[in-house]
Amino acid sequence: MCGIAGMVALDDVAGRLADSIRNLEYRGYDSCGMALLNGSRSLIVRKNIGPVAEVSEKEGFAGLRGHIGIAHTRWATHGGVTQANAHPHLSCDARFTITHNGIISNHDTLRARLAKAGHTFTSETDTEVIVHLIEERYKQFRGVERAFVAALHELEGTYAVALLTTYEPDRIYCARSESPLLIGVGDSANFVASDFSAFISHTKRAVFMDDGEYAVVSHDGYAVKRVATGELVSRPVQELKWDTEMAQKGGFPHYMLKEIFEQPQVVRNALEIDAKLIERFAALALEKRLFLTGVGTTYYVAQFGQYYFSEYAGITPVAASSDEFRFLAQVDEGCAVVALSQSGETYDTLAALRYAKSRKAVTGAIVNVMGSTMARTVDHLILQGSGPEICVISTKAALAQMLLLARIALAAGARRGHITKAKAAAYEKQMREMPAIIETILNEKAGFINTIARQQCHINHWLFLGRGKYYPAARESALKMKEVSYVHAEGMPSGFLKHGTIALIDEKLNSVIFTPPEEEKELYDMTLSSAEEIRARDGYTLGIRFDGARKKAHLPFTDSIVLPRTPPFTAPFIEIVAAQLLSYYTATALNRNIDRPRALAKSVTVA
Ligand code: AGP
Repeated sequence: MCGIAGMVALDDVAGRLADSIRNLEYRGYDSCGMALLNGSRSLIVRKNIGPVAEVSEKEGFAGLRGHIGIAHTRWATHGGVTQANAHPHLSCDARFTITHNGIISNHDTLRARLAKAGHTFTSETDTEVIVHLIEERYKQFRGVERAFVAALHELEGTYAVALLTTYEPDRIYCARSESPLLIGVGDSANFVASDFSAFISHTKRAVFMDDGEYAVVSHDGYAVKRVATGELVSRPVQELKWDTEMAQKGGFPHYMLKEIFEQPQVVRNALEIDAKLIERFAALALEKRLFLTGVGTTYYVAQFGQYYFSEYAGITPVAASSDEFRFLAQVDEGCAVVALSQSGETYDTLAALRYAKSRKAVTGAIVNVMGSTMARTVDHLILQGSGPEICVISTKAALAQMLLLARIALAAGARRGHITKAKAAAYEKQMREMPAIIETILNEKAGFINTIARQQCHINHWLFLGRGKYYPAARESALKMKEVSYVHAEGMPSGFLKHGTIALIDEKLNSVIFTPPEEEKELYDMTLSSAEEIRARDGYTLGIRFDGARKKAHLPFTDSIVLPRTPPFTAPFIEIVAAQLLSYYTATALNRNIDRPRALAKSVTVA
């Protein structure tokens, strides 16, 4: 996946376009580029490998002139990370240039056909076929709009594209099919982008495009039309709620730390989501069968929800990773499928939802990004209101989703009579106490967690172990460790350890034990037994545990992160926050690229 930005104004746009793609770097950052038109003369195209700041410097983006331009930041899918493969791509006659996000699945066939017709390709990308195809259709129709639409009809796969041409030097053509795209509506400038963070510092007014639509954008207007019929689409302009300030670091060294520290407020926001909406989702849980789906972190969120539904609602939903959903989930009419997604654009999760819809299931989603494809695809939506999450690593958005699933589980449990209304209210009260506990961890425990991280950062293999609802917490925390610190970490049920993995225990492998509060006696004792088994083999154990536990002569932990007393309902959330800090500080000790770890992207919009 990649980030697209375009801008038409009455003055030079290059500086603003560079800022736009910098704000889109969470979508990929291996190379980037820009194309501009200065009057009707030839296209200026500059691109190179590296993040935006570096390429901007190298290619002198700031000094480029032009009132109209398109830009792109890339996450390679077809073709390596090279200057030639960076976008924008040019047609043979250099009169058309294009940027693209998505994958053109019939690019091989199109490339062969176009090569036969005399086109020369300069990159290995699937994208380049689009611009040659438009050039070819222009020869046929002698009109940009007709050529553009004709080319779109021939494309298979997924795309968001932005096109610039010397034939119409005051317009950007763009189109969307299963990749996000929206138009920013300014006063004397208009924008095209994969996401509104590209233009929010200039305008908060946006028009969200749907699949199968294209748009023609000039500095003083825009028109959205259907690709299939050419018919004009009337779509209201929406006012965006986020602002630039919300998307900045606010004094923290990294977005990841800032977002971890925002969690007390994020929890409050999640608790303010209207109870009626929670009830609507609780009703979904009572359908014939409930499926929870997401991928990566959001799969672990789904699994977390599965344990909460089981314990507090007496229902065991299916938690399925969205990339596997179609191959596993027997969904049909009467089933409900609820997806979790920060971005609302993740291809795998969208595909699971589309599959669910095709099988006539009712769909729901908990999503952070307003106007995202998922938000507009589902029958029922919770906008979680966690604010922009810029770091590629998801922290606050995932925690809020977990909390919302816990709230829905309580509502479903009360409806079914699995728990009393009074009990549900007592758990709700415990959730309201969470922000203060999280604040204590952030203010009083971060220093100690940093020390442990520095002492242990030389260890390359970690097990994250938990039982019951602490198991998905352990898995999610292991993923955090892997993706931000590049250290190998596996999340596993602690009871599973003795069935094989225990053979790995030695001085080169550390274990983190997600210990329940002592009130959960059975879980607590079983978890400690696993830690004992590791200690008996001289393995290092880091206990994440709660204060106030009965003083055992010897707790089986080499080191302990001791958290304030927390009731069992909210205990896993609190341990996740401590584990987020452990991953963050391990990664800083190892000098990793915290907000943009290697090989990752914030929004994975490819299959
Ligand atoms: C989170 O830290 C990950 N980078 C990743 O697993 C992410 O959760 C996954 O790609 C799903 O993204 P989404 O929430 O935007 O759908």
